[in-house]
Amino acid sequence: MDKKRPRWRDEEEDDALLERRRQEKEKKKKAKLEKKGKGINGEHIASHKPGLTKIHQEKKAAGIDLTSSGLIRFKAPHIRSCRSVENYERLNHIEEGAYGVVFRGRDMSTGEIVALKKLKVDKDQHGFPITSLREIETLMALDHPNIVHLKEIVIGGSLDQIYIVMEFVEHDLKYLMADMREPFLQSEVKTILHQLLSATAHMHDNWIIHRDLKTSNLLMNTEGMIKVADFGLARYFSDPVAPMTPLVVTLWYRAPELLLGAKHYSTEVDIWSIGCIFGELLTNKPLIEGKSEINQIMKIFELLGYPDESSWPGFRSLPNAKSIHIPKDRQPKTSLRAKFPYITSAGVDLLSRLLQFDPKKRITAQEALEHPYFKEDPKPKPPGEFPSFLSKTSEGGRRKVPSPRAPVASHGWKASNSKLLGLSDYEEAEEEEEEENKPILASPTSGLFNENDKLGPGFQLRLG
Ligand SMILES: Nc1ncnc2c1ncn2[C@@H]1O[C@H](COP(=O)(O)OP(=O)(O)OP(=O)(O)O)[C@@H](O)[C@H]1O
Ligand SMILES: [Mg+2]
Repeated sequence: MDKKRPRWRDEEEDDALLERRRQEKEKKKKAKLEKKGKGINGEHIASHKPGLTKIHQEKKAAGIDLTSSGLIRFKAPHIRSCRSVENYERLNHIEEGAYGVVFRGRDMSTGEIVALKKLKVDKDQHGFPITSLREIETLMALDHPNIVHLKEIVIGGSLDQIYIVMEFVEHDLKYLMADMREPFLQSEVKTILHQLLSATAHMHDNWIIHRDLKTSNLLMNTEGMIKVADFGLARYFSDPVAPMTPLVVTLWYRAPELLLGAKHYSTEVDIWSIGCIFGELLTNKPLIEGKSEINQIMKIFELLGYPDESSWPGFRSLPNAKSIHIPKDRQPKTSLRAKFPYITSAGVDLLSRLLQFDPKKRITAQEALEHPYFKEDPKPKPPGEFPSFLSKTSEGGRRKVPSPRAPVASHGWKASNSKLLGLSDYEEAEEEEEEENKPILASPTSGLFNENDKLGPGFQLRLG
């Protein structure tokens, strides 16, 4: 008698049944693994939120070098001196932002047209702004067809003249949309959104959060290719996340957890911004145009309803959520379906997943790329078939489009740049980002329309 065979199973059929079950289990496991490892076109994809062990496994599988302690080796460029800006001919001014002045220029040796962003370095302060360091560091680390390509860093006559040389991209979506009579077609929205998600998935896979995704930071070339730009607020994140300043992301695109003062947040803040951009692409109008932080959160509630412990567990413990007053006779929320009657249920479903209150329930960039919205008709338009638009940046004469500014600290720097640093302070500052920006939301110039903003930032949320 077979010793391994349990006594209660002496029928031949039992064996066959067990074997069948084992095979089914095996099949399911295989299908699951395949699903995880393949992208929309069958290409291998990395997980959106890899834990250290997982990312190690992926890197090892991809043949990437790990140190003996298990740390991942990052590519580091060779140290060499920067070339001079004199190698470029200045053609025209494109735009001055909170953080830099952008010009169109020509490489005099190759004739190539480029964009040069002159970083603002405060002459009165010593040291190099941390946001500039981060912009250079993160852009150098990213290589993706939908992320603006950094060519080199060049310097002018003095140390405060530092320029980022990038590929020149003819349009930015904000200006393009301001000149369009009709919103983009559904097929065009899909292409733009898919490219934006693809760039974002790449950033997140490389441990970078952008923290200022908005239409004016999305460039589009004449071949319909989207290029994410402006990494002035971008930074590396860790798992588990370290405390960071919540005063990031331009107000209209800012996630509710940031508005409520969360210091522990992650890639999900970019996903919320993508939801707002999706809504804007569909209607050619910003989705949630608040005038102040409190007004912004109220507008979010009007659109999506009020969160509660089931839709967003733990939200009441966020610093600004403790005492917000929500009226008893709550206005019913506008449903996303009613606001976007012309898109399919799949489109509404994707939008609502991008705009989930609870960051944990928000879809990831990688998951969104696989959403049925991109597979149903009308299919995404091939980028090369986009209509040709007249480039205002090449002409040098574009009109000003009213558009919200990225959060700025009181002395005119972007939020996380409220302290200017010497290079040696850099690592310390990374850890102290939270300290640097105290008090949260307290800068008088932190939001939009600050001059007229009676309510001001730093509000409290009281639930009625
Ligand atoms: N590579 C580029 N090619 C063409 N135009 C560009 C390029 N990079 C930036 N621009 C233009 O310059 C504008 C400002 O650039 P960017 O957003 O990087 O600067 P900023 O000072 O951080 O702006 P803000 O603080 O207003 O967001 C962009 O909105 C875009 O119109
Ligand atoms: Mg910008």
